[in-house]
Amino acid sequence: MGVQESYPIDVASIREDFPILDRKVGGDFTVPGEGEDDDLPLVYLDNAATSQTPKQVVDAIVDYYYGYNSNVHRGIHHLSQEASVAYENAHDRVAEFVGAAGREEIVFTKNTTEAMNLVAYAWGLEELGEGDTVVLTEMEHHASLVTWQQIAKKTGASVEYIGVDEEGRLDMDHAAELIDEDVKMVSTVHVSNTLGTINPVAELAEMAHEAGAYVFVDGAQAVPTRPVDVKEIDADFYAFSGHKMLGPTGIGVLYGKEEILEEMSPYLYGGEMIRSVTYEDSTWEDLPWKFEAGTPVIEQGIALHAAIDYLDDIGMENVQAHEELLAEYAYDRLTELDDVEIYGPPGDDRGGLVAFNLDGVHAHDLSSILNDHAVAVRAGDHCTQPLHDKLGVAASTRASFYVYNTFEEIDKLVEAVDDARQLFA
Ligand SMILES: Cc1ncc(COP(=O)(O)O)c(C=O)c1O
Repeated sequence: MGVQESYPIDVASIREDFPILDRKVGGDFTVPGEGEDDDLPLVYLDNAATSQTPKQVVDAIVDYYYGYNSNVHRGIHHLSQEASVAYENAHDRVAEFVGAAGREEIVFTKNTTEAMNLVAYAWGLEELGEGDTVVLTEMEHHASLVTWQQIAKKTGASVEYIGVDEEGRLDMDHAAELIDEDVKMVSTVHVSNTLGTINPVAELAEMAHEAGAYVFVDGAQAVPTRPVDVKEIDADFYAFSGHKMLGPTGIGVLYGKEEILEEMSPYLYGGEMIRSVTYEDSTWEDLPWKFEAGTPVIEQGIALHAAIDYLDDIGMENVQAHEELLAEYAYDRLTELDDVEIYGPPGDDRGGLVAFNLDGVHAHDLSSILNDHAVAVRAGDHCTQPLHDKLGVAASTRASFYVYNTFEEIDKLVEAVDDARQLFA
């Protein structure tokens, strides 16, 4: 399948919203922002780790600090009310973006990892015990894998893993075998951050529900890159991070079905999450505030709202189309090089990232050479150590794309990899 000539989105005008993309990098690292004369234009292909931030999102943060910075839900003064309304609206906006029923189903956390821990502690510690099973996939991020593994150890539950086949897809026959009446939770990544596999999460949710289990979907790589509707998937829980979708660091989202969140005990205790307190006992605030103890992520929530507005202006179908186009192009171009092994499904059926190895070259050495070409990628195990063990490699190099990336940038990546290939030949 050939690659289209034109982009489904206006990349040139999108790039104008991201001043960082005009940066040059290279030379000796000194002080951030102080470049050398011979520096090269930045090629940022590390978006699956953290995306860049458009002016509109930074403006929302500046407006908040210059205009109405205040704590929420704690004052009747004007600024506090403005901040409270903006913070609550941010929950509504997120709910609308992912198809949740309303703000009651949207809890702001620090990141995806914290959302996962919230459910593992608040639900898992109460509900899991000897004889119960948590089913994960072999391609889980450590955020999910380590968390459920440790909660299982605390509760006496066991953990089973749905296998990944040669092409990097879930073995759904294996899933059907594993998901039986002992299973209480199926926790699956939506889009793999290493293989790029797009998992059949709705099908897994159906299998889990038929067995009487809950399903938790890790959407850290999915929500930023495609339309997601949590109700269509019928996820019981769904998590993602703001910093991978043009938002700031320090905010993640936990979606949970209202009736399940209602039944769950809080994860963190303290101010903000209580309704009444005596020396003897306390009662809890309504959802979602019951799960947002202490001063919450006000600035980050407001900025996430702006990031969602930005993405929605582009249109998530278009974001997805752009991601797929670039992923296919990168896959095809890297495949043309000798000695490059790419992990995961074919180029025309994957999320917007490509993890690969150059034969005989450690991923860290490769990424260091790419860095000499001003190409920013991630090298390592991408928090999927057991999956890398299964692939038989210690690490890989991952290039990941977003709305501002271009074919030319992928060409630079490929040139740099080819350079490394010749250097190590
Ligand atoms: C699939 C997946 N899950 C979870 C995470 C964890 O996200 P965070 O570090 O924002 O908690 C990541 C981030 O790399 C990821 O790619």
